[in-house]
Amino acid sequence: MTPRPATAKTLDALMPGDPGRAETVARMIRVDQAGEYGAMRIYAGQLAVLGRSGAAPTLRRMAEQEKKHLDTFNGLLLERRVRPTLLQPLWHVAGFALGAATALLGEKAAMACTVAVEETIDEHYRRQAAMLGDEEPKLKDAIEEFREDEIEHRDTALEHGAKEAPGYAPLTFAIKRASRLAIWLSERF
Ligand SMILES: [Fe+2]
Ligand SMILES: [Fe+2]
Repeated sequence: MTPRPATAKTLDALMPGDPGRAETVARMIRVDQAGEYGAMRIYAGQLAVLGRSGAAPTLRRMAEQEKKHLDTFNGLLLERRVRPTLLQPLWHVAGFALGAATALLGEKAAMACTVAVEETIDEHYRRQAAMLGDEEPKLKDAIEEFREDEIEHRDTALEHGAKEAPGYAPLTFAIKRASRLAIWLSERF
């Protein structure tokens, strides 16, 4: 099953039966906070394995940016009184496990993981930004700014030889599927 995102239309084109506008925005903030939380945990898992490797400074720099993204969405959760995803404990463990597992396969596999995750997030943020149109400028600005950072992370990972990872294609395919499922779940629970 390929889960379809809940946010496929623009805010002003919500159809009867769609969750209301406020709920749609709340879902966006919820899923984005969950995603940035998961991203931070992935880097934590990678650094647990590769903390002394040549890739460590690069991983740390990306992790710091994820922390900044997460702080912004944590702030928005509080400001808008949006509850965080119920699945946070799952992302805590699954994010770390994904990071550590790919890092154990080697630096290039860790970078392949970053490519897969960032490409999924790029797509996800692009869809959200399009849906927001001119509404919610603060949220939209954050999404657009962070999307640029994620694209940069993907490029950094590619420069670090992500594509030379053994099993690059099946590995990134599986991670993208899992990331899309995580997005789908975090929008709803
Ligand atoms: Fe991020
Ligand atoms: Fe990122």
